[in-house]
Amino acid sequence: MTSIDSLLHENRRFPPSPEFAASAVAGPDLYERAEADRLGFWAAQARELLTWETPFSQTLDWSNPPFAKWFADGRLNVAYNCLDRHVEARNGNRVAFHWEGEPGDTRTVTYAELTAEVKRAANVLTSLGIGQGDRVAIYLPMIPEAVVAMLAVARIGAVHSVVFGGFSSESLRARIDDASAKLVITADGGWRKGKVVQLKPAVDAALADGKSTVESVLVVRRAQNAIDWTDGRDQWWNDAMAGAADEHEAQGFEAENPLFILYTSGTTGKPKGILHTSGGYLTQVAFTQKFVFDLHPETDVYWCTADVGWVTGHSYAIYGPMANGATQVLYEGTPDTPHPGRWWELIQKYKVSIFYTAPTAIRSFMKVGREIPQRFDLSSLRVLGSVGEPINPEAWVWYREVIGGGTTPVVDTWWQTETGGIMVSALPGVTTAKPGSAQVPIPGITVDVLGDDGTPVENNQGGLLAVTAPWPSMLRGIWGDPDRFRETYWSKFWDAPGGPFYLAGDGAHKDEDGDLWLLGRIDDVMNVSGHRLSTAEIESALVSHPWVAEAAVVGASDETTGQAVVAFVIVKARQADVATASEASDVLRKHVAEQIGAIARPRTIYIVSELPKTRSGKIMRRLLRDVAEGREVGDTTTLADTSVMQIITDKLR
Ligand code: WT7
Repeated sequence: MTSIDSLLHENRRFPPSPEFAASAVAGPDLYERAEADRLGFWAAQARELLTWETPFSQTLDWSNPPFAKWFADGRLNVAYNCLDRHVEARNGNRVAFHWEGEPGDTRTVTYAELTAEVKRAANVLTSLGIGQGDRVAIYLPMIPEAVVAMLAVARIGAVHSVVFGGFSSESLRARIDDASAKLVITADGGWRKGKVVQLKPAVDAALADGKSTVESVLVVRRAQNAIDWTDGRDQWWNDAMAGAADEHEAQGFEAENPLFILYTSGTTGKPKGILHTSGGYLTQVAFTQKFVFDLHPETDVYWCTADVGWVTGHSYAIYGPMANGATQVLYEGTPDTPHPGRWWELIQKYKVSIFYTAPTAIRSFMKVGREIPQRFDLSSLRVLGSVGEPINPEAWVWYREVIGGGTTPVVDTWWQTETGGIMVSALPGVTTAKPGSAQVPIPGITVDVLGDDGTPVENNQGGLLAVTAPWPSMLRGIWGDPDRFRETYWSKFWDAPGGPFYLAGDGAHKDEDGDLWLLGRIDDVMNVSGHRLSTAEIESALVSHPWVAEAAVVGASDETTGQAVVAFVIVKARQADVATASEASDVLRKHVAEQIGAIARPRTIYIVSELPKTRSGKIMRRLLRDVAEGREVGDTTTLADTSVMQIITDKLR
C-alpha cells in the first residue's frame, strides 16, 4: 500500500470559535459516552432521535457476520418519523423545503402539506398493488414529487430503488431487472442547463420488450414535453394523486424492513444493489445530520446540493434532514444556469445557514473566481460540508474563506453508499479543523488503517481503511447476492485479529494526531465528480460497440472532476478503415454515454494497436494511467511484451 502514500503536509489549524462552541449541538462528551458504552450510546440515539411504534430491547445482533441486525425487535415507520410526528408536535407549519426549479418556478412545502401529499401517494401506491417488500424504481428529476415518492414507498414498507435521471435506459433496465421492480415512477422530463431533458423515452425503451417485471408506470407532469403513452401501463401521477384520499395511517414495520436499494459501481461490470434497512439507517443519518451539521431545526435553513439519485441525496436531502424536522432548499438544476452565481443567489434568497456540497463543485467555482460568489450576501452561512472525494487543502481554505466568510467550520465527511451515513468527520464546535483531513470517526464508529495482514499500520504509513465494528446504517447486503457481499467487503479481513472487519476500498493514513487522510480508491473504481464509476463497466460498454475489439479504462487525475475517464481502445481492423481515429473516438464517447449515462462518457479515447498485459493476461492499468496523466511510464518488466508501451507512447506523441 505504500504506492498510494501522500506527501502532503498541512499545518493550518482552525479551532472552533468560543461563540460557536457555546451554542453547538455537539460537545466533547459525545465521544466519551460512545467510548464508554458503544452499543448503549447507539441505543440511546435510536430512542432519543426516533419514534418507535414498538420499542426495541436488543441493540445489535452480530451472531451471523457479516449480516448485522440493529434494533431487530423494534418496529417503526420511517415516513412517520420524517413527517407525521413533526405535525403532531405542532410543527406542521414549518417549511419542509423551498424547492426551486431550474427555470425559476418555485414551491414551498410545509411539513403538514408534505405529510398530506405522502399519505395521498401511499394510497396511490397501494391501489396499484404495491405492498410491503415490493420494489419501486424511481427515475425522476430533483422535483418535489421525488421526495413524495420516496417517502410514500417507505410509508407502506415497500423498497425504493432510485435511479439517477442521468442514467441511460440500459442502466435503468439493468436496475429494474436486478430488483424485479413492479412499478416505475418517472416524469415526462426535467430541466437541465436551460433545456428539457427527457425521461419517459428512456423508461419506454427500458420496458419496450414487455418482458420486465414492471406492471405500471406513474408519470409526473413536469416539463410538458410530448411523450409516448402505453395504455394500461402508464398513468399520470397528477391524476392519480388528485383521486386519492389524504388519510393514511402509518403502520409500524420491523426495524430490519428493507428501506431502499441503491446501485453503485464495483470492481466488476455489474453494479451492486446496496441494501439499506430502516431502524439502524434512520438512527445514524438522523444522528449525523444533527451533530455533524450542528443542525438547529427551528432556525436553520439547510441545503444539500446532491441529487436524490445518489446516496447523499437519500441520507442528507431526505431522511437525515426530515427525521430532524429541518427546513431545506431543494434545487432542480445545475449550478451555472442561467448564470454562474445561481447557487449563491439561492443561498442569499433563502438565507441558507448550512450548506453541503462536493469538492468538484468547489473546485469549479474556484476556477471561475471569487468575484461571482462575492456578488451575493452569503452571511447567513454558518456551517459548510464537503463529501464525495478528498478535498484539497486549497479548496478547503477557499471554501471557508470565500463562501464561509472566513469564519464557518468546514466539515469534510467521509462515507460511502455502503456505509449509509457519515462515518468520519469533524464535529463543528468541537474539533479543531485541519484542511484536507477528514479527521476522526464520529462518536460510536470505529475505523482503522490496516496492513494486508489486518493489523494497524504505523502513523503516517499508508494502509487500507477498515471499519472495525458493525454500525447502525451499514449495508445489510448486496441485493440478491450474499456471496458477493461477503467476498467484496469482508473476505479481506475475515480472519484479522478482532475481526471480521469491513474493507472500505479506500487507501488512507493516520497522522501523528490520529487524524485520517483519505488517499483514494484501491480498486478499479474511479471517482468522477464524486460519483463512483467502474472501469470494468465502461470497458464492457466500449466492447459492446461493433467497432471495438478490446478496451482498457483508467481514471486519470483531473483538475475539476477529481478523476476523468480515459479509455484505450483497439478497434477491429476493417472498421478502422471506415473511421479516422477522431471520428471513432467521437462515436465511442457517445456510445458510452448512451450505454451508461453522460457521467461515464470518456474525456479522452486513445485508439491504440496494443494494450499492456502481464504474462497472465491482466491489463496493466497502472502503466496506462501513467500515459493518461502524462507521466514517464513506470516499470514495465512484468509485461508479456515489453515493447508495447513504447508502441503506445510513440503513437500518442
Ligand atoms: C467513495 C464512496 C458518500 C457519498 C458520496 C460518494 C470517496 C467520499 C469522501 C471524503 C475522501 C471520499 C471514497 C469512498 N469519498 N467521501 N470526504 N474524502 N474520499 O458515495 O459513490 O458510494 O463513493 O467516495 O473513495 O469510498 P459513493
